[in-house]
Amino acid sequence: MEYRNLGRSGLKVSALSYGAWVTFDTQLQIDEAKKCMVAAYDAGVNFFDNAEAYASGKAEIIMGEVLKQNGWRRDSYSVSSKVFFGSVEGDKLPTQRGLSRKHIWEACDQALERLQLDYLDLYFCHRPDQETPIEETVWAMHSLIMQGKVMYWGTSEWSAQEITQAHQVARQYNLIPPLMEQPQYNMLHRDRFEKEYAQLYRDFGLGTTIWSPLASGLLTGKYNDGIPEDSRLSLPGYEWLKNALLGEGSDAKLAKVRALGTIADELGVPMAQMALAWTLKNPNVSTVITGASRVSQLESNMKALDVVEKLTDDVMGRIATILEE
Ligand SMILES: NC(=O)c1ccc[n+]([C@@H]2O[C@H](COP(=O)([O-])OP(=O)(O)OC[C@H]3O[C@@H](n4cnc5c(N)ncnc54)[C@H](OP(=O)(O)O)[C@@H]3O)[C@@H](O)[C@H]2O)c1
Repeated sequence: MEYRNLGRSGLKVSALSYGAWVTFDTQLQIDEAKKCMVAAYDAGVNFFDNAEAYASGKAEIIMGEVLKQNGWRRDSYSVSSKVFFGSVEGDKLPTQRGLSRKHIWEACDQALERLQLDYLDLYFCHRPDQETPIEETVWAMHSLIMQGKVMYWGTSEWSAQEITQAHQVARQYNLIPPLMEQPQYNMLHRDRFEKEYAQLYRDFGLGTTIWSPLASGLLTGKYNDGIPEDSRLSLPGYEWLKNALLGEGSDAKLAKVRALGTIADELGVPMAQMALAWTLKNPNVSTVITGASRVSQLESNMKALDVVEKLTDDVMGRIATILEE
């Protein structure tokens, strides 16, 4: 495993990490989740990603139970949670979501309880909250760090302007600024990460924990000839994701995936490993959060680090040509 500093911090995160979205609770109960987390940890993964919203808190309960059962040293791994969407199932009261001081504090305590932990290593504002002054959010996250409940705080899918504002507030009041962003980044989703955030890497040394590096599985090639029954896009309740990935414009996307698959074949590696390696090549990526609904996927994806050296300038050029078409 390779370890990278998370932005301008001393925290070392494994270049490949493991997250719980969709899989924990919906596809994996404790025993299966445990097998995946153990396979990840054994491969050197030291960061596990979670959120209050994943399966309405149940993903955190499963992860907490696995961490407890495994008895790994607390100083050998980092765990995250995210606040914004709320953990209450179904309709939420106005106080049960967003980035107010009240919800941030309560959500943090609830996440710690579900995860059975004393502190979160990383805590993300899962989306920007247009209805809460940014000063209130920055103060609330700073206070959690001062209380010892959180080590580092960051954002997820905030605009460059919103992240810059948070830094300005932090500077004005001498507070701890957001260290990292959690954006979507993969071969089919690049603009915000590569263009909009470019200034933030220079100005703030922004760290990044990127999500959906395989575009929910599309970049494995598994959807090239239809939707397998045992895949994420067949899950009840995920029709919206199926529409987002395979709705309008999907022919062009799938044509790209097929063309990329030819390059992976030439390199003699699975398409998924090539797609993950492609994200690892970007120096602004601190960690690539992989998702896996079974151990075999996880074990295969962990080999992506060996593929990075196969992505020579020539290969990267050919990939770029396909992606630009
Ligand atoms: N901050 C945010 O807003 C946000 C949003 C989304 C995700 N995230 C985080 O990012 C993590 C990763 O996102 P993601 O799960 O969308 O990642 P992903 O790597 O794009 O997709 C993972 C899914 O692809 C399929 N897959 C993975 N490896 C495969 C392989 N080798 N062969 C065949 N299929 C494979 C599996 O689904 P099947 O069940 O179909 O096999 C797996 O669950 C999440 O767990 C979460 O922690 C954050």
